[in-house]
Amino acid sequence: MEEAFFVNGGKELFGKVELHGAKNAVLPMLAASLLTDEEVEIKDCPSISDVDNMLELVREVGGEVFRFGRNIRVRGQAVKNSVSTSLQKVMRSSMFMLGTLLATVGEVKTSLPGGCAIGGRPLDIHLDGLKMLGATCQEIGDEIFCRAKELKGAKIVMRYPSVGATENLLLASCKAKGKTTLINCAREPEIVSLVGLLNNMGAKIRGEGTSVLEIDGVESLHGASFTPVADRIVGGTLLSALSVCGGEIEICGLDERLVGSTLCALRSKNFETFDDGLCLRARAKKVTDCSEEVACDLTTGPYPLFATDMQPIVSAVKCFGKGVSRIRETVFESRFSHLSEMKKLGANVKIDGDVALLSRGDLRAGDMRARDLRGGAGLLVFALGLAGESRIFGTSFVKRGYENIDETMRKLGADMRIIKN
Ligand code: EPZ
Repeated sequence: MEEAFFVNGGKELFGKVELHGAKNAVLPMLAASLLTDEEVEIKDCPSISDVDNMLELVREVGGEVFRFGRNIRVRGQAVKNSVSTSLQKVMRSSMFMLGTLLATVGEVKTSLPGGCAIGGRPLDIHLDGLKMLGATCQEIGDEIFCRAKELKGAKIVMRYPSVGATENLLLASCKAKGKTTLINCAREPEIVSLVGLLNNMGAKIRGEGTSVLEIDGVESLHGASFTPVADRIVGGTLLSALSVCGGEIEICGLDERLVGSTLCALRSKNFETFDDGLCLRARAKKVTDCSEEVACDLTTGPYPLFATDMQPIVSAVKCFGKGVSRIRETVFESRFSHLSEMKKLGANVKIDGDVALLSRGDLRAGDMRARDLRGGAGLLVFALGLAGESRIFGTSFVKRGYENIDETMRKLGADMRIIKN
């Protein structure tokens, strides 16, 4: 019996939702919490499988975990140098253990995460940076073994502003001896949030939100309590759903500035937002009913460019609007798998290398299969906009990053539930 999301699309959305902390901030924060033996509290964590799996990793290397609703407390510094291969395979975030375990245990044994549905995802930038900090890293087959008697501050020029490598090098360097400078690092809001937690734990990091981070190594870190930045990708997904369904929703906890590039892609004279500093209210006419052109021309890239995680979701919206949208994916090499599913249901899609051209076709409801997290979210948005009954298989991908998405959508008036076939 395979689980699927059942969506009877075409219903307008109305109501209010509270946004939780960002998955991609919470995951490295959980690794950061192992850098001290004092208690670290991370508030407002979503209840999703990626967080559950990361907590499993934290427990495996020696942390004690206490969960009270959305608040997670971790106590105990890491003591083990590896996690079981089965966990590493399901969680790419096991990569954060590289920085944390080198900084605490002094060595780490892990396996290369390997490619996934969205692309190859190598770790060379992580490993090059760790070597600059004094670690020796050996790759044997798909095993990696890194060791460092002592990590020493260094100037590291990253060949690409990788999110995970920036986070890993932050984790490794905050207790390294002397000063570390990370040049050409990533600037995502989730990194700014991680720096917020680390500085609350006693780290000395400057430059967050810019492409140069300076870290003065400290002897030790201490406990802290921190609320991560809101999940801009979940927020952007709800705004995209509003665009295809029409209606008026309020997303509490979402700052308009976090979803700037998504709003740029969605905005038209029939899609308006109002930010009162606490909640973002958005009102939209169903994009299929708009007579004006709503096409966009966007290219994904590191923040502040258009987020690759929003690409599959916004591309779903663009299959309903008037005009031809051009979407170029530059971050991951295979992040268009959702488009072939949409094409089967009538979307007008042409793919040429890393560019997709999208326009409204003769759309109909039907069955689709998710093959990755955000691609799955894109299919959900697509199904919400289609009149009639659709099923989306591959629910486990979507559950990695969306907390009770069926309940959230029902609360807003959508006809959506989880079924077993
Ligand atoms: C983070 O992945 C996010 N994951 C991803 O979120 C997100 O899509 C991605 O950043 C880009 O924004 C987490 O934060 C847990 P990268 P990460 O290192 O860190 C190449 C989601 O759906 N690269 O910035 O793995 C890499 O192959 C997801 O929530 C190297 O070549 O992304 C890719 O092409 C999935 N060598 C590009 O850089 C390296 O050593 C960006 O990857 C590292 C990366």
